[in-house]
Amino acid sequence: MVIEPVVILRDVWKIYRDPKVGETIALKGVNLVVNRGEIMAIHGPSGSGKSTLLKLIAGLLRPDRGDVIVDGYNISMLDEEGLAMIRNTVVGYIPQDYGLVEDLNVYENVEIPLLIAGVPKKIREEKVSEILEYIGLKNMASKPARFLSGGEKQRVAIARAMVNTPSVILADEPTANLDWDSSMRALEMLKSLNRDFKTTVIIVSHDPRVIDYADRAVIMVSGVLKSYKESRV
Ligand SMILES: Nc1ncnc2c1ncn2[C@@H]1O[C@H](COP(=O)(O)OP(=O)(O)OP(=O)(O)O)[C@@H](O)[C@H]1O
Ligand SMILES: [Mg+2]
Repeated sequence: MVIEPVVILRDVWKIYRDPKVGETIALKGVNLVVNRGEIMAIHGPSGSGKSTLLKLIAGLLRPDRGDVIVDGYNISMLDEEGLAMIRNTVVGYIPQDYGLVEDLNVYENVEIPLLIAGVPKKIREEKVSEILEYIGLKNMASKPARFLSGGEKQRVAIARAMVNTPSVILADEPTANLDWDSSMRALEMLKSLNRDFKTTVIIVSHDPRVIDYADRAVIMVSGVLKSYKESRV
């Protein structure tokens, strides 16, 4: 298999500036390469900068210094329109709180990225049905998001992140609010997407079980990537 980097971070710094709190240096010169088709876990204590790292790769934040390159696009160089394109088609971001629109139903939530991308109705219908079928939520298509359990919400968020077949899926603490069974199901789902669609998966988590699902794991401490762990090669 040819090894091809899909996410590259070179000397990445991120500083939050707040008039009341002052400066927080969240990332201090992070270097990271994630290869296409890999499942990468990012571990580390609370406040160490894991979510910040994920948001930079998702095009939700820009670095203060250094390069974040995702599928050949340099995030630092893109204008707002370019970042919107990255968010909508190159990466699929699954926030910790799932980020669903509570008043929309399952189908409508999953359809959102396709609407933003201007995909015609018929193709939208095909793509949403396909991913809902794959993820086992077809029978819940018309259920409003506010009535779903945590595990179901997580799966809808995964479906929404996948519907545009992105190169990279980014999952922030996918097991944090779930019981054992739902956590395992969410991790299995990410693993199947990786296997069936060759999607690169980056998972940020405190949960040591995530290491078993990852090809590689990195540890983040105080804004610095400390070490690499090989868990499944
Ligand atoms: N919008 C913000 N404004 C100011 N400081 C922020 C902001 N977002 C994060 N920070 C700070 O940056 C640091 C890293 O935060 P981040 O959310 O990336 O950590 P984390 O590793 O994801 O933590 P957790 O495991 O608790 O989710 C923390 O000190 C946090 O307080
Ligand atoms: Mg976080």
